[in-house]
Amino acid sequence: MKIKSICCIGAGYVGGPTMSVIAQKNPNIKVTVVDINKDRIDAWNSVDLSKLPIYEPGLDKVVSESRGRNLFFSTDVDKAIFDSEMIFISVNTPTKTYGAGKGMAADLKYVELCARQIAKVSKSDKIIVEKSTLPVKTAEAIKNILDNTGSGVHFDILSNPEFLAEGTAIKDLEFPDRVLIGGEQTTEGNLAINKLVQIYSSWVDSTKIVTTNLWSSELSKLTANAFLAQRISSINSLSELCEKTGADIDEVATAIGMDSRIGSKFLKTSVGFGGSCFQKDILNLVYICKSLGINEVADYWEQVIIMNNHQRTRFAKNILTSLYNTVAGKKITILGWSFKKDTNDTRESAAIYVADNLIDEEASIHVYDPKVSAKQMHLDLNNLNSREKSLNTRMLNVEESPYDASKNSHAIAILTEWDEFKGYDWEKIYASMNKPAFIFDGRNILDKTKLEKIGFIYKAIGKQ
Ligand code: NAD
Ligand code: UGA
Repeated sequence: MKIKSICCIGAGYVGGPTMSVIAQKNPNIKVTVVDINKDRIDAWNSVDLSKLPIYEPGLDKVVSESRGRNLFFSTDVDKAIFDSEMIFISVNTPTKTYGAGKGMAADLKYVELCARQIAKVSKSDKIIVEKSTLPVKTAEAIKNILDNTGSGVHFDILSNPEFLAEGTAIKDLEFPDRVLIGGEQTTEGNLAINKLVQIYSSWVDSTKIVTTNLWSSELSKLTANAFLAQRISSINSLSELCEKTGADIDEVATAIGMDSRIGSKFLKTSVGFGGSCFQKDILNLVYICKSLGINEVADYWEQVIIMNNHQRTRFAKNILTSLYNTVAGKKITILGWSFKKDTNDTRESAAIYVADNLIDEEASIHVYDPKVSAKQMHLDLNNLNSREKSLNTRMLNVEESPYDASKNSHAIAILTEWDEFKGYDWEKIYASMNKPAFIFDGRNILDKTKLEKIGFIYKAIGKQ
């Protein structure tokens, strides 16, 4: 029997786009995405598709095709659980901010609440799918909660981690490198795995659907993120050596990336990786290793985070030293606040930390980002709790255009690789700035020769 009804708990960056694509590709399955956040659900239901809660290229088209047909967004979590044969858990799993494992372990309270709610509401057998990124062995805890309801309802647990990247979510979902499904190696477990395989088979080639045991699937997700982040920290660590020796980091990346064993992707040096997951997932991996007493393994992965923090701090420090060791009272322009281009997500964005460092030095920060709201930027800075909120309000100014942001400024820091930055009238910007005018390109996206010809002092990461 094929699955006819799906519920997804959590209408965030993963739940929303993932379920939209599943619904688009499976018009015969009713997909209901639920969330306790009413504003978010209202935004998913908004008639004006530019008001969807998440900005992702192509998402509006996918939503408009299925919404109201077989895709629904609702706050009625109980009803959606009760009605569905398969339930995806796609809630947030942030780093714990309290108690044991504070600052390292994943906070599983939202996942556990989902399990308890499913246990309470369900009156028919269900397949529960872990879509959230979870520590290895979490399925055991979920199963314990679900198997002790006394209701006689049978639950199968699957792990189906999501590998989409923000900004390319729709493309990643439509053409995934692989879909990973882990389940119990029992007859019932295999039946559950096959039901989920059928759903993905509507559009994904069977050779790309990998099935494993539960623990391999859970651990593979953390491992994939750790490997990706490790590549960025590796190239960023060498960017500092390039600056000291005259080697050029982009040339080094090209040279090593042509070795097919190394590959060319994820070798772009930057002001440091951001995003809600790399740091959180590596910290979680480190915590798991420490809990199991394998400290050398924990230390090895922790170094990826240490290097990333160093890269952000080093970037801010370079601005300070280049501007004659003081930025106090100087206007510094930040172009880009999101953690990467083509998303409005700012979680763990390097821009937040660079701005914070510069405000410590009493610089006046003026930011322009094409997709991030002023409210979000202030929230991000205040969440660091570095100083009085009123001081942040005074020092962080959000501008409507890059030209306003850079007028009378001493330096520009490029912190997100938005394509539109390349097309600006840089002569006009230069003319409006204090001289000497600096550009610190945290993404190495601008044309050094062109900018130096205009008169800028241009500083790229990993280049002299
Ligand atoms: P998110 O914060 O954008 O969305 C999570 C949503 O879950 C929120 O809207 C929240 O209100 C809702 N929620 C929490 N508890 C709930 C409950 N009990 N009932 C109903 N709704 C509830 O998070 P996200 O970025 O979508 O990430 C979700 C998970 O997916 C995380 O584990 C993350 O590590 C993983 N992941 C994220 C990405 C990404 O690109 N963001 C990619 C792959 C995997
Ligand atoms: C990442 C992974 O790429 C996804 O596979 C995974 O599903 C997701 O995390 C997750 O689990 O949340 P995401 O964080 O959305 O996706 O975006 P990435 O493209 O991986 O970029 C992460 C950060 O690394 C960004 O700040 C980006 O600018 C930076 N980056 C990326 C570099 O500095 N250099 C690179 O070469 C690539």
